Amino acid sequence: MTEHVVISKADGVLEIRFNRPDKKNALSAEMYESVAAALDGANDDRAIRAVLLTGTGDTFTSGNDVRNFQARSVSNAPSASGRFLPALTTFRKPLIGAVNGAAIGIGTTMLLHCDLIVAATNARFHMPFTPLGLVPEAGSSLLVPQAIGHRRASALLLLGDAIDAATALDWGLINQVVAPDALMPTARALAARLAALPSESVRQTKALMRGDNPGMQARIAEELLLLRERVRSPEAKEAFAAFVEKRKPDFSGFH
Ligand code: COA
Repeated sequence: MTEHVVISKADGVLEIRFNRPDKKNALSAEMYESVAAALDGANDDRAIRAVLLTGTGDTFTSGNDVRNFQARSVSNAPSASGRFLPALTTFRKPLIGAVNGAAIGIGTTMLLHCDLIVAATNARFHMPFTPLGLVPEAGSSLLVPQAIGHRRASALLLLGDAIDAATALDWGLINQVVAPDALMPTARALAARLAALPSESVRQTKALMRGDNPGMQARIAEELLLLRERVRSPEAKEAFAAFVEKRKPDFSGFH
């Protein structure tokens, strides 16, 4: 357990809040582990009927801790996200994303596995994998084109463009945009509605909808293999060093 993830339970809803605001809620190995354990526990807890994900402060999460990426770039350490991705992508109960600011990298890709998403007007969605010398993860190379079409997906995944909440709504990536003050009340109201429904019907409906996407786990595995290579590439090392040194990366020396 880490204080960087806050977990609370009320009225059949589990709330998981990324809580490392001084690092814009960047995800450490301990945080991934904590969230994975909470999701696994919620799957088995009959009292939990929906789960809500959100962040503290002005950022949902800035994604994987870049310093952790940097450590992996010079070692054989396994991915920090460990059992988080399996826990998230096979989670059986409804997941609601309440996006309180920027959702970067896995911050956005985890939302692709949420069933309903409410975003504050200041939310931003950004998957800067190629600018970091990496490749997409969490099934995003499959799910983003499926959700918004190849051309828009290329802007997000090939160019690494960010989009605001209004664009995400327009493109069908999220359900609703509300004022920041209304974010948690709106997300909690949705969670309460889900928690009041017949739980087995809700679970089976989610399973049926996900069942239409059998290639997803295979794609996640394929992405992870490539990511393991990319994380150690000279381009990625330069990108991580540039972030830590607060400068622009220079890829001109690489072919
Ligand atoms: N990993 C590690 N540290 C991170 C981080 C991340 N993903 N995101 C932010 N931080 C840290 C910064 O290094 C900084 O730490 P410091 O105060 O010790 O220098 C602190 O959080 C605040 O970030 P800062 O960049 O100063 O805030 P900002 O408001 O100018 O920008 C972001 C916020 C989120 C836009 C910017 O930090 C960012 O782009 N982060 C990296 C996102 C990223 O590439 N994630 C990986 C995707 S695969």
